[in-house]
Amino acid sequence: MSTRSLAKEQPASFAFNADMTALSKRIIAKYPAGRQASAVIPLLDLAQRQEGWVTKPAIEEIARILDMAPMRVLEVATFYTMFNLAPVGKTHVQVCTSLSCWLRGSNDVVKSCKEKLGIGFGGITPDGKFSLGELECSGACVNAPVAQIGDDYYEDLDYASTGKLLDAFKRGETPKPGSAIGRDGAAPAGEAITLTENPTPPAKQDFAAAKAAFEKAKAEAAAKAAAPKA
Ligand code: FES
Repeated sequence: MSTRSLAKEQPASFAFNADMTALSKRIIAKYPAGRQASAVIPLLDLAQRQEGWVTKPAIEEIARILDMAPMRVLEVATFYTMFNLAPVGKTHVQVCTSLSCWLRGSNDVVKSCKEKLGIGFGGITPDGKFSLGELECSGACVNAPVAQIGDDYYEDLDYASTGKLLDAFKRGETPKPGSAIGRDGAAPAGEAITLTENPTPPAKQDFAAAKAAFEKAKAEAAAKAAAPKA
């Protein structure tokens, strides 16, 4: 379980730059009047994209913009592991260690990251290029174990493929995201074992016959209604 608390050292202030201000106004305008608090997650995301992490002054500024209690914004920022509550490296590597990933070998992925980068969870390499974090379920269990690097998911990792992945980032490359074992999306890892045959196509409806039967039933009902009562 990752720890979620604000960094001890904080900047003195925060303000959205011109681009982010324009974006934040567009986001807030999507919600009905009086419901602007619904924009809290996207605004926290904008603050993180601008600063690299979510600072306390950013939380206070977002609370001011959205007319919320700062504590409410803090609750959101500390709940979602997508928000970095302390400075991170240029390449932020986050490994999912929740149940599915753990069962499928996330311990090896974590070990590989720690050895390759020489840091632990919450650490930043001395050159500031890499940082390592821990994620709760990333919603990609079917391709576990998973690491998120920047906005991309790298899936089906093991000790060796994680090492190769980090080597590529160290060389300044951005490897193609997705499965490390060449899986097509979330398709089965081996041969398909279900839905291996083409399903029987549904029988063709005879709409003309159905319409004729309906008209016949309608005429019979009308005739019956018009018949003199015995
Ligand atoms: S447990 Fe890792 S993606 Fe769900």
